[in-house]
Amino acid sequence: MEFDRFASSYDSSFMGRGSRRFYADLIRELDVEDGDAVLDVGCGTGSVLRYIADKKQINGFGIDVSENMVALARQKNPAFSFVAGDSARLPYADGSMDTVMACMAYHHFPNQAAFRREAWRVLKPGGSLYICDPRFPWLVRAFFNTFFKDAAFRTVQRNIADFAADGFRLANATKDFYVQVLCFDKPL
Ligand SMILES: C[S@@+](CC[C@H](N)C(=O)[O-])C[C@H]1O[C@@H](n2cnc3c(N)ncnc32)[C@H](O)[C@@H]1O
Repeated sequence: MEFDRFASSYDSSFMGRGSRRFYADLIRELDVEDGDAVLDVGCGTGSVLRYIADKKQINGFGIDVSENMVALARQKNPAFSFVAGDSARLPYADGSMDTVMACMAYHHFPNQAAFRREAWRVLKPGGSLYICDPRFPWLVRAFFNTFFKDAAFRTVQRNIADFAADGFRLANATKDFYVQVLCFDKPL
């Protein structure tokens, strides 16, 4: 697995340092309460859960396809529960999560439709899903999507349409030059 090879250097890498801008944008939008069950899909080294845990007493869960990323996430968040696994098959019970998020990860998921179905399944009615992903101009998006096998970058409009088609209700969308943070609700 590609991310396994550079898990130990991810946080200090160009990509890892670039991700901090995304963490800040996501955390500004996140609405979580003490006691909430919060799942980070494609959690990497567990940085976003770490930031949240500094502010709220959450029950944190993380899943990542890279075993090495998961090992680092465990070290960073010893109180939380992490598993190695795929975004297309989330090993959590129906309606068990208050919040599901994917930060800088959704564009890597090879089966985005399966992830959307799984996020819906594991969320409680009334729960929230956050997608924080790059928002590239079409030429950059086309370049990455064509030449990088793990890339499936989507526009804000495409993401909103895809999640709405699966039942999610758009609660909020923030975007700037190259970041999109989309918050969806699973209606009651
Ligand atoms: C760019 S990193 C972002 C990590 C973390 N969310 C962050 O913001 O620092 C993308 C992560 O998605 C994970 N990933 C890629 N495909 C995945 C899949 N199908 N299921 C779960 N995780 C996946 C990678 O292993 C990697 O850790």
